[in-house]
Amino acid sequence: MPDSSAAADKTPHNVSLAEQLAWASRMVQAVQAGRSLTEALGQTPSRLRPGVQALTFHALRHLGLTQAIVGRLSRRSPAPPVKALLQVAISLLWADPSSSESPRYAAHTLVDQAVTALKVLKQPVVVAGFVNACLRRCIRERQALNDWANEQTEARWNHPAWWVERVRSDHPDHWQAVLEADRVPAPMVLRVNARRQTRAAYSAQLAAMGIDACPVGDVGLELAHALPVEQLPGWQEGAVSVQDTAAQMAAPLLLDGASGVRRVLDACAAPGGKTAHLLERADLEVLAIDQDPARAQRIRDNLARLRLEATVMAADAGQPHSWWDGKPFDAILLDAPCTASGIVRRHPDVPWLRRPGDVEQLVQQQARLLNALWPLLRPGGRLLYATCSVFKAEGSEQILAFLATHADARTLPAPGHLLPGLAGQTDTREPADGIGDNATRGTDGFFYALLVKPAA
Ligand SMILES: C[S@@+](CC[C@H](N)C(=O)[O-])C[C@H]1O[C@@H](n2cnc3c(N)ncnc32)[C@H](O)[C@@H]1O
Repeated sequence: MPDSSAAADKTPHNVSLAEQLAWASRMVQAVQAGRSLTEALGQTPSRLRPGVQALTFHALRHLGLTQAIVGRLSRRSPAPPVKALLQVAISLLWADPSSSESPRYAAHTLVDQAVTALKVLKQPVVVAGFVNACLRRCIRERQALNDWANEQTEARWNHPAWWVERVRSDHPDHWQAVLEADRVPAPMVLRVNARRQTRAAYSAQLAAMGIDACPVGDVGLELAHALPVEQLPGWQEGAVSVQDTAAQMAAPLLLDGASGVRRVLDACAAPGGKTAHLLERADLEVLAIDQDPARAQRIRDNLARLRLEATVMAADAGQPHSWWDGKPFDAILLDAPCTASGIVRRHPDVPWLRRPGDVEQLVQQQARLLNALWPLLRPGGRLLYATCSVFKAEGSEQILAFLATHADARTLPAPGHLLPGLAGQTDTREPADGIGDNATRGTDGFFYALLVKPAA
């Protein structure tokens, strides 16, 4: 789902702001009721989706603030649809006027359209006065409300308080930067399919179409502006994939410098981004498995578009007796299920959907997978453990616990915790293409540990 935060302007002319506000508030209400935004957006009429996604992303990036302000302005909690509508409208009143990324509307237009949106949402007429009064008060008292909200953790950082505390204690030197980065739209990054052409050749094609991009990593191109994949040259023919710079580090980490790698297991593979990258990089026999059959099908579809081949299975990686043929693997990629706390800038619903207890549950799941897969690695083989999380429990602490109980495991150099948006974490070693200015917007949050089983 490329981030269309700046896409509100691309909404068809016959769609009113009121209609978009109504749909965006349905999305916010769905997230507050515990539903994933991707799923909820799937039920939005397609003609409205880019604009509604942009408004919803913006609202979710301000959810802590607007939750506090709505609480302050209302004696009793409003009905969920009204509360969500107020939250969307207030987030827009707070849009940063200097940001080219955030949607902007005149205050009086917003108030008028929010009141009209109540009709779209079929709310009782009497609510209109309340919504009107709340929004006008926000406009009048914006500075005072902002100062008051800034004193409260969730409103100041727009993440649940437990999440702020965990990031603060895990990354005492960078926690503010991490939380701020979560609220900045992520860039769209492409991975050029090295089986089909060089990055230089593809970037020349982009330049000829007036699409600005700069090189990242070995085969990546960060676009200056997100655009629908169908508009990318050669998309259907498998010229490129969409994949963040941090995720593009997995294949080189696992393969570069390793010898005799042929049989590879990608243990949690869907939708197949890293499986495909492995196959683009070397001639391998890859077994790609994922527990979820529908997601396993997405691996097949992605590989087909990229003209790549692997064996794909729907299975529980933690129960090898149900799928393993007994032949050891030369290399294993375990891109484990995690909280996704490193990709909040792409999925702003994540912090509001997670509960503190989820972290421990996922840590146990990751440990189960690591323990089950380690015996499948041949002596001298490598296992790359990855999560798109910034929480140490799912990264460095997980690996320390594993090393403490596996005397036959050693570590090789790997990035460890990459923090979202932080400059200096992005690999721009190869500016030789002579395109763009290398002004990347940093990577997603990720963790990588590379384990090796010494040869007998
Ligand atoms: C982080 S995603 C993988 C992303 C993928 N490696 C890529 O680059 O496109 C984690 C995946 O693990 C899968 N998964 C979760 N538990 C699993 C298990 N026990 N066995 C196999 N797959 C599992 C999920 O369905 C999900 O698709």
